[in-house]
Amino acid sequence: MNFLEERIVKDGIITEGNVLKVDSFLNHQMDIELFDQIGAEFKRRFEGKPINKILTIEASGIGIACVAAQHFKVPVVFAKKTQSINLEGEMYVAEVESFTHRCKNQVIVSQKFLSEEDHVLIIDDFLANGCALQGLIQIVQAAGATVEGIGIVIEKGFQAGGSIIRNLGYQLESLAIVDAMDEKTGTFVFREQK
Ligand code: G4P
Ligand code: NA
Ligand code: NA
Repeated sequence: MNFLEERIVKDGIITEGNVLKVDSFLNHQMDIELFDQIGAEFKRRFEGKPINKILTIEASGIGIACVAAQHFKVPVVFAKKTQSINLEGEMYVAEVESFTHRCKNQVIVSQKFLSEEDHVLIIDDFLANGCALQGLIQIVQAAGATVEGIGIVIEKGFQAGGSIIRNLGYQLESLAIVDAMDEKTGTFVFREQK
């Protein structure tokens, strides 16, 4: 097991409906030393890629992206999920369907902060069905920028997102891939990775 898988086993809680709660270190309280290890591991996995910007989505992606960005020395842009009065000018907007919440959401980025010059690493905390991630990819494409890779902290390997994104040809690196989890016994099956 890698450092993240060990932490999931130690502090992750499996709840009803195959939901993995990682509130104590990732999604609510944040373990910044762990975030730093995550950032270093993304840096290692995307070594040699000409990444000049990290793109993530509010809310849970932001903290991880910011700590990772210190390893890449690049700015972070986070996509917003709602129009706000603080958003001025032209925007890229992608419509995404939330599987969990059964509703449509928007993913919004100002055109000021993404252009064809950009080589983007997309970062997020979870990959489940990958709807939000596909919205982010659409936005990078709309900007004429390049997706250099996608870094995910926890992928739920038993949901469709990972294979959809890999089939599109992207370098998708998930630091832990949970292929199965059992609510009754509290046990996890992680996918073997190099
Ligand atoms: P997806 O298609 O983008 O994969 O999202 P899905 O609708 O399946 O999931 C909706 C939200 O729930 C996403 O966060 C996703 O990261 C999160 N999620 C999915 N499965 C799990 C899980 O097992 N555990 C936890 N902790 N989160 C999960 P979001 O709505 O974008 O929320 P946030 O980033 O604002 O927190
Ligand atoms: Na998220
Ligand atoms: Na989340």
